[in-house]
Amino acid sequence: MAERAARMNPAMLTAGSAEPRVDSVGQAEAAHGVESSGQTESPDQARCPYLVVRDPDVVREVLHRPADFSPANALVAVTPLEGRALRVLQRVQFALPPVLASNDTDTHAGIRKVVAGYFTPATVAAMEPRIRELAQEAARNAADRLDSSGHADLVRTVAAFPPAVVMLELLGLPVRDLADLKRWGLDSMELFWGWPDEDRQLELAHSAAEFYVWLRKLVAESLTAPGRNLFKSLAEHGLSTPEMCSLGYFLLIAGQETTTQLISTTLFRLLEGSAPVGWEDAASEAGSKAMVRHVLTTESSVPTWRRVAAHDTNVGGAPIPAGAEILLELSGNHITSPSQPAQRGPSTAYGLVFGSGIHRCLGAKLAELEAAVTIQETAAALPGIQLREGEPEWIRLLSFQAPRTVTVTGCRESKPL
Ligand code: HEM
Repeated sequence: MAERAARMNPAMLTAGSAEPRVDSVGQAEAAHGVESSGQTESPDQARCPYLVVRDPDVVREVLHRPADFSPANALVAVTPLEGRALRVLQRVQFALPPVLASNDTDTHAGIRKVVAGYFTPATVAAMEPRIRELAQEAARNAADRLDSSGHADLVRTVAAFPPAVVMLELLGLPVRDLADLKRWGLDSMELFWGWPDEDRQLELAHSAAEFYVWLRKLVAESLTAPGRNLFKSLAEHGLSTPEMCSLGYFLLIAGQETTTQLISTTLFRLLEGSAPVGWEDAASEAGSKAMVRHVLTTESSVPTWRRVAAHDTNVGGAPIPAGAEILLELSGNHITSPSQPAQRGPSTAYGLVFGSGIHRCLGAKLAELEAAVTIQETAAALPGIQLREGEPEWIRLLSFQAPRTVTVTGCRESKPL
């Protein structure tokens, strides 16, 4: 319990992020599939001070040895937070005790079971008509915007909101404050997986604190709301309010922004013409599914994930000292392979893009379904559109990547929507 309390201290969120540096595990460099990030093509070791594991077999092995490679660093800030930002978080009692993604104790299985109950294959399949309805509505909005102004940003009109609506509906939570939720999600991703300087940390900490206060209210309200919802189920399972807030903080971001980003990259690569599937083919079920799989393996929205060595161990023939932080490559990405265009970079087997083993993503089926349906409906509703901009600005964080905008222009053939 003492250890658990220590982890709940917001200051601890930053404690493990900078040490040890990869140079302390230099002997691992020659080992199969395990590289210090200084030996990869990363131009800036300070941005990626991890032992990078790229070989899919070694990645899988690490994920399947949770006793040796703990997920405890999953939510640790990549850039240590400085005093002003920490104080903003402490003022609202912000804490992320380990419950799900970063939980390496034996409480994980039971909590995971409760959450999994909201994303069963049957529940996800039954959601398809609703997902299609939302995708069609979003595509209609994009078409209206194109008609009225001659251009539209498909991230904002098509990719952003439907995944958030679907997630909240599945969890039995009220669908509200969606614009705030999207902003909070992106800000928290940057705060925990980015390289913000001190002033930016402060801005992002204010946003994270706002999100956390909103979440605490939502948790309290949900406990007395009629019907079934995630927080009621977690409370029945015995979780405390900080534990429920921690779980909600991760899930309300991971459960929708990652899908938004997958849709955004897929739309961009399709319209850029660099993908194996054309825009017209993407209007079919098979075409959209194939394209989503292609992006997942070559340039997923969650291209890397972290683990930390729980004790002195080894993997792929390399000795790994206790405390070494490891970055697992799940797909082509802009961080560990920045000089290779991600879409042409070495692709990891599809089987790893949602993780593997006891922490494997609980939303994998849902995310793929949402992305494929959204791509299909958008391509069907907007034939003949073209990219308006060349290379957009990208979200490029340690474990998240996507274009911030996909702005398209006109030439919409008239087709009944
Ligand atoms: C394109 C979209 C998504 C991608 C690429 C993705 C990827 C991942 C990855 C790589 C992990 C870590 C797995 C590991 O440690 O082995 C993960 C964990 C998780 N994801 Fe996703 N995810 C996506 C969408 C979603 C959605 C839509 C949900 C739910 C609505 C979700 C819920 C979760 C949960 C609950 C975990 C933690 C599971 C655990 O620790 O037991 N994800 N995801």
